[in-house]
Amino acid sequence: MTDPSAIEIRAAVEVLRAGGLVAFPTETVYGLGADASQPDAVRRVFTVKGRPADHPVIVHLAEAGALGEWAAAVPPAAVILTAQCWPGPLTVVVRRAAHVPDEVTGGLETVGLRVPDQPVALALLREFAKEGAGGIAAPSANRFGRVSPTTAADVRADLGADVDVVLDGGECRVGVESTIVDCTGDEPAILRLGGLSRERIEDLLGHPVPVRRGGNGAADVRAPGTLVSHYAPSAQVLLVDLASVSRVAEDALARGLTVGVIGEKLPGDLPAGATVLARPEDDADYARHLYRHLRAADAADLDTVLAVVPAEVGIGAAVADRLRRAAGLGT
Ligand code: TXA
Ligand code: MG
Repeated sequence: MTDPSAIEIRAAVEVLRAGGLVAFPTETVYGLGADASQPDAVRRVFTVKGRPADHPVIVHLAEAGALGEWAAAVPPAAVILTAQCWPGPLTVVVRRAAHVPDEVTGGLETVGLRVPDQPVALALLREFAKEGAGGIAAPSANRFGRVSPTTAADVRADLGADVDVVLDGGECRVGVESTIVDCTGDEPAILRLGGLSRERIEDLLGHPVPVRRGGNGAADVRAPGTLVSHYAPSAQVLLVDLASVSRVAEDALARGLTVGVIGEKLPGDLPAGATVLARPEDDADYARHLYRHLRAADAADLDTVLAVVPAEVGIGAAVADRLRRAAGLGT
């Protein structure tokens, strides 16, 4: 696979300028992008995704220097985190600049901003920023409620002809979405666990940073990534530990169900009838391929997926979060 050429990037920029939709790779998942300064183009993103219109989308920027063009105020925590972690799997929520359309913010006074760490994304963003404000509004490039895409083929399979251009940057390196940090309050708070660890954020800020779970606390915050139904495949996902996975698999098979298993260090006594979807070698590997495994479970028409939850340390916390949501347990 070779990355898109300068000509393809240029063509994608023209599509964005004309109000079209461009799917592009980031280090986390693929995004479905539109020119963030064109309300009609952003509305098209919502239509294609089938997503409620009052949900905010993240604006992707070419560089941290553009932060001040999109934010009305940049609190100290946002300065520290973006200086250290951008480009990277971090989204900061800050007060929006006056020109940011309601379509982008879902009518909120805040906006989510991020500089992705992916060469194709950065090439697209830099070319786009040569003229005009240069922000690309992009949610994950999947239909609402479905598993996020981590390859260009996933995007095409889910969105088909509804997207004008799909830039192929290969498989996403991180595999779960960015960590979202709300920097608008007195103390920063994590709204969604993701590719940047909570430990790293706390190290940089020098104090504990709470995770505001569920997204139903502040009336001001609407985060579809926090909905219970999100990130769920059709198969029923059950969370298990290493000690019980073989027994739970036996029970499910005995009830006539087809069973898939995902987990690090799976035991040797798994029943032969169970399909091993993956044995990730570590938590980063688990994160990178998690959505692919959930998709594979659906492709194989499995009834049940038994997922062994990793320890909630580093990126393992984001994997555990997505597995709980896939299991319909919330966060
Ligand atoms: O890694 C990612 O963040 C990927 C790639 C494409 O950048 N994008 C992504 O977008 O996951 P999306 O729309 O699927 O999820 C973005 C989350 C949503 O839960 C949204 O509600 C939240 O960010 N969000 C965006 N702006 C916000 C704001 N102003 N306040 C609170 N939450 C916000
Ligand atoms: Mg999403």
